[in-house]
Amino acid sequence: MHTRTLGNTGAGISEIGLGTWQLGSADWGTVDPADAQAILTRSVELGVNFIDTADVYGMGHSERAIGDFLKTTSAELHVATKLGRRHDEPHGWPQNFTLETMRAHTEDSLRHLGIDSLFLTQLHCIPTDELRRGEVFDHLRTLQSEGLIQHWGVSVETVEEGLLCLEQPGLASLQIIFNIFRQKLVDELLPVAQAKGVGLIARVPLASGLLAGKFNTATSFPETDHRHYNAEGQCFNIGETFAGVGLANGAALAEAVRDTFPDPGDHTMAQQALRWGLDHDAITTVIPGASRLDQAESNAAVSEMPELPVDTHTQLRALYDDRIHEKIVGAY
Ligand SMILES: NC(=O)c1ccc[n+]([C@@H]2O[C@H](COP(=O)([O-])OP(=O)(O)OC[C@H]3O[C@@H](n4cnc5c(N)ncnc54)[C@H](OP(=O)(O)O)[C@@H]3O)[C@@H](O)[C@H]2O)c1
Repeated sequence: MHTRTLGNTGAGISEIGLGTWQLGSADWGTVDPADAQAILTRSVELGVNFIDTADVYGMGHSERAIGDFLKTTSAELHVATKLGRRHDEPHGWPQNFTLETMRAHTEDSLRHLGIDSLFLTQLHCIPTDELRRGEVFDHLRTLQSEGLIQHWGVSVETVEEGLLCLEQPGLASLQIIFNIFRQKLVDELLPVAQAKGVGLIARVPLASGLLAGKFNTATSFPETDHRHYNAEGQCFNIGETFAGVGLANGAALAEAVRDTFPDPGDHTMAQQALRWGLDHDAITTVIPGASRLDQAESNAAVSEMPELPVDTHTQLRALYDDRIHEKIVGAY
């Protein structure tokens, strides 16, 4: 597993990380606790040392699963969580952005994880106006000076939000939706972040599974799965579900992506799609989520894959310009 330095943190993090929204057992159906531990254990055995979670993934369930795992390992791991979307009383949305609330939510994350200080916390897709007002960044600097967090970053939905955050001194990382269906960022955000030395964490790298090439228009998802209940963006930003292209368009476009990839040899389509993200050197880590052990194993192996040919990148960019861009719904 190769590592890349995450922004100003000085930490060498694995270029394939583990996304653990799935381990919240809420928005992707249920993941058995034993399977969750197996996914974490095997990922770390394979060199993954960066784990992304959030306080709202199963309302602490994902963080607690990671906390249980941390008790079993002596590996040096970098766990990143997020805050800002809790809706429980008395500190719930939209009062999430006071220093008092952010401190209380950070302390809860520390308790769930069983640690004293967070490696990285990230604002979790909070309203653009809050980013514009900017007090949240002062609150993060305060939590940093208090030692509750070591570094801070922001998970954003749009280029506009990313550029706003990049104006903030001390920003360690931006977490972005970045995959073959969302290439606008290549021109509009990656170069700016790279020039400022800010780490980039690429989420939804498989477009919620579409870029594994395994879905078609007849595929259905359980009611508890966001690919069922957020397919039209009813609950949160549509970009988080199928990268905003929808299941029907996405399945057809995934076929076109598959046709563009070179002969995969021993590699799967999902691995090639993840490799596309890693081939951008502005990206620090790509964080696929896994609901099964074999997915986590296959994803970790991408670090050792050769880069995709330059021609393939060129063709995928043309595919994006000609057919994909127009299909994306929602601000991006
Ligand atoms: N707002 C935010 O900050 C935010 C939002 C979204 C995600 N995230 C973070 O980013 C991480 C990654 O994004 P994501 O999980 O939403 O989307 P993703 O990584 O694009 O897709 C994950 C899904 O793809 C399928 N998959 C994964 N590996 C596979 C493989 N090797 N072969 C075949 N299928 C595979 C699985 O689907 P099945 O379960 O159907 O098998 C898995 O649940 C999350 O876990 C979370 O940590 C953050």
